[in-house]
Amino acid sequence: MHTNGSARAKIDVRNVRKAFASEKVSLPVVDGVDLQVADGEFVALIGPSGCGKTTLMNLIAGFLQPDDGAVFIDGIERRKPSSQGILISQQGSIFPWLTVQENLMFGLNGHAHTDKTGIADHYASIVGLKGFETSYPHQLSGGMLKRAELARALVVKPEILYMDEPFSALDALMGLRIRNELLRILAEERHTVLMITHDVEEAIHLADRILVLSPRPTRVQAVFDVPFAHPRRLTSPEAQELRVAVLRQLGVDA
Ligand SMILES: Nc1ncnc2c1ncn2[C@@H]1O[C@H](COP(=O)(O)OP(=O)(O)OP(=O)(O)O)[C@@H](O)[C@H]1O
Ligand SMILES: [Mg+2]
Repeated sequence: MHTNGSARAKIDVRNVRKAFASEKVSLPVVDGVDLQVADGEFVALIGPSGCGKTTLMNLIAGFLQPDDGAVFIDGIERRKPSSQGILISQQGSIFPWLTVQENLMFGLNGHAHTDKTGIADHYASIVGLKGFETSYPHQLSGGMLKRAELARALVVKPEILYMDEPFSALDALMGLRIRNELLRILAEERHTVLMITHDVEEAIHLADRILVLSPRPTRVQAVFDVPFAHPRRLTSPEAQELRVAVLRQLGVDA
C-alpha cells in the first residue's frame, strides 16, 4: 500500500496556517503544517486533545480555508470540498430520520446509478449490517452506527477517505473488529486514507505512516513509518517498540 516516492502526492499540504479570530484575540491553531499523502497510502494523525487535528482535517478536506499556505489534491489547489473526498466527522453524519438503506442511498443522490438500492444494500452488507437495511439509527448499537457511517462514506467510492476519530467510543473488541473489516475493505477497494485517532495501537494496526502533531498551534512534530505487513501482530516486539516511541513523542512514558 505504501507508495512513497511517487512523482506527485495525492494530498499535498504546504505550510498551512490557520487562526480563529474572536472580537479581541486571535487563536492560532494550525502553525505551518507540511504533509504529503501518496496515492493509496493510509496516514494516521495523532496528537493531544485540542491541538488542532479536526481543524487541520477540515482545511485539507476543503471545509475551511487556510490563512496562509495551500492544499493540493492531485496537484490542483483545493479551495472547497469535492466528492473526490468524503469526511467521516467526529460527530457522525448519519441522518437519524432515515433508515440505514436510505442513508446510504442519500449519498448516491446526483450519481447516475440505476440500482441505488442494490448498491446501498451491498455496502450495508460489506460492513456487516445485512438484515438492518430498514432499521433507523436509534435502533442500532454504537458499533453498528459506526459501521453505518463507514458504509455511507464508502458507497460513493471516494478517492480519499477522511476519518476523524471514526472508531473512538467503541469498546476494545468492537474497535478491533471494525478495524479488521476496514483493512479487508481497503484491500479490495483502494482508497487514500487520512485518519485522526488518539489511539496509538489503532494507528499502528491500520496506518502506513503515523504523523504526531504538536500541541496547539499544531505542527508535524514527528513522523513514523509503520513497515509491518498485514495482518499485523500488535503484540510483536517491533510493534511494541514503535508504540513506546510514538507515546514518548506524545509526552507519555510507557
Ligand atoms: N470554528 C472555530 N472557531 C473558533 N475556535 C475554534 C473553531 N474550531 C476549533 N476551534 C478551536 O481550535 C482549537 C483546536 O480545535 P480542534 O477541534 O481542531 O482540536 P482537535 O485536535 O480536533 O481536538 P480533539 O482531539 O479534542 O477532537 C480548540 O482550541 C478549539 O476551541
Ligand atoms: Mg477533533
